[in-house]
Amino acid sequence: MHLTKEEERMLDGEEGYAVRKSMEILIALGNIYDAEKLIRVGSVQVAGVSYHNLGDAGLQYLNELAKDGKVKVLTTLNPAGMDLEDWKKLGISEEFAEKQNLVIDAFRKMGIIISCTCTPYLIGNLPRYGEHIAWSESSAVTFANSVIGAKTNREGGPSALAAAFVGKTPYYGLHLEQNRVPDTHIDVKAKLEKFSDWGALGYCIGRKVENRIPYITGIEDVGLDELKSFCASIVTHGSKPLFYMKGITPGSEKHQPPKEKITIEDRNIEDAYESISDDIDVIDFVCIGCPHCSIKEISEIAKLLRNKHISSNTEFWVATSRQMKQLADKRGYTEIIEKAGGKFACDTCMAVAPLKGRFRSVATTSAKGCYYSRHNDMKTKLGSLKECVEAAVSGKWS
Ligand code: F3S
Repeated sequence: MHLTKEEERMLDGEEGYAVRKSMEILIALGNIYDAEKLIRVGSVQVAGVSYHNLGDAGLQYLNELAKDGKVKVLTTLNPAGMDLEDWKKLGISEEFAEKQNLVIDAFRKMGIIISCTCTPYLIGNLPRYGEHIAWSESSAVTFANSVIGAKTNREGGPSALAAAFVGKTPYYGLHLEQNRVPDTHIDVKAKLEKFSDWGALGYCIGRKVENRIPYITGIEDVGLDELKSFCASIVTHGSKPLFYMKGITPGSEKHQPPKEKITIEDRNIEDAYESISDDIDVIDFVCIGCPHCSIKEISEIAKLLRNKHISSNTEFWVATSRQMKQLADKRGYTEIIEKAGGKFACDTCMAVAPLKGRFRSVATTSAKGCYYSRHNDMKTKLGSLKECVEAAVSGKWS
């Protein structure tokens, strides 16, 4: 890979340990994927923030980098393993909180914005169309590539961090226009009536296209929150982190539907629900906000929970960014949700909080949330917001 004089100096350690280490990572990556050079990135989203996933080895790695590492571009963080301000309320132990705070201290020292959300595009890290970025977090990567039209590979935590210290990433994969061409036509004939249908659709398409880029037709209209949920599901279940939706996502007008065509019908969506959900009726955990809730979703939760009360056998979480919670405070949604017994889980989520062994079953609007909850040994139910709120109130899925 060609290096500029400045990059060679970085590799020689002129800018310190963190930059040298980062250059080594980026060059190794570039060599694996045959990148000809490094390119500048406009922003970075770093995943791998929860102490639950990092452990002591990860914390040590971050502390080493934090000794002299300072990010060169706008860098935001994925969810941590707990609500950074109100972790006790979520049942997090003192030991875990202590370690998680050390992780956050290391990121803060590096100059990273402690955003702790997987929807950075809702809180100010909003790339431009065509801009090269280096993001980790598969749902955000898919949203950035497909809905915004920015260009990023699906980075891992260390490679995203390396890009932040250098301000560059290897020029390969989805940074190159020739690798952004759709190769499978998906025609959606199914009716999509409730919010969770978008997660089910993502499941169907992800499983069918398997690491290819779908060009989707048949969708007339879709909201931002639905797209956010769809992005999380399609990539979790197999697709590349890029799709085109005719007439809806940018760049779809530049391409024609590929020859190979797959049709999605109502029965496929029904099958998806069957695969994603388990046969259970008792629900002891309900989590909304995978990806993190927007203010519109929080307002809908508040509307459904007004004058209701969550069952004493069920825990109800609204996972969102701190900024969104602050907006919810101002608009009175927080009061309604908390009065009903719901809890805000800011800065964290159902996949990265240490939940294993705490709950037996979860109801959620998110197909991705179901996927990760199974890793946490929970039985799952995918459903609409109304169905999930009803399950939280009754403690049962009906
Ligand atoms: Fe976000 Fe966690 Fe879901 S990072 S997409 S809320 S699994």
